[in-house]
Amino acid sequence: GEELRELLLSRITDVPDYPKPGVMFKDITPLLADARAFTALTDAFVALCERYGATKVVGLEARGFILAAPVAVRAGVGFVPVRKAGKLPGATLAQSYELEYGSAEIEMHADALTAGDRVLVIDDVLATGGTAEASLKLIRRAGAEVAGVAVLMELGFLPGRDRLAPVLGDAPLEALITV
Ligand code: PRP
Ligand code: MG
Repeated sequence: GEELRELLLSRITDVPDYPKPGVMFKDITPLLADARAFTALTDAFVALCERYGATKVVGLEARGFILAAPVAVRAGVGFVPVRKAGKLPGATLAQSYELEYGSAEIEMHADALTAGDRVLVIDDVLATGGTAEASLKLIRRAGAEVAGVAVLMELGFLPGRDRLAPVLGDAPLEALITV
């Protein structure tokens, strides 16, 4: 509820002009360092896992790993990493996506998910939606079902939600706070 949102917001710091001039960086390290806030965040994600019947949690490298791993443990489901290209040792599925300038690529182990899996994707921030969109394509290509996308923070001034909508289909996008 409102109390959770206020707690989370109070532990996210605005850093102006990082990583480049004109960008306001949202620093979640104070939230991670606060046991009450990090636990409340984890519990909120776990509740979403349960609501949407997730059988696996996917975390998006790197900040998504930090948030998603404790959720998987608490929810009693497995954790699957989606990594930046070139970091996974086994056979992978790769998905590239467009950035403001150029493109990026993420990968997931090809055998990490099975047809019966329902997957909740967790990340810290939804900005343009490019990273989350690519992760949903990987999950579908692996033959699993998307249970939803859950982020700590949605940047409401960017069209990430609209970009994700066609790939999400009926699956929900849950943002614990919108800034
Ligand atoms: C950031 C953020 C999200 C992504 C959101 O990750 O953590 O994963 O960008 O942007 P998008 O919606 O426009 O795709 P980034 O790759 O910058 O760095 P990280 O490795 O620290 O998570
Ligand atoms: Mg990230």
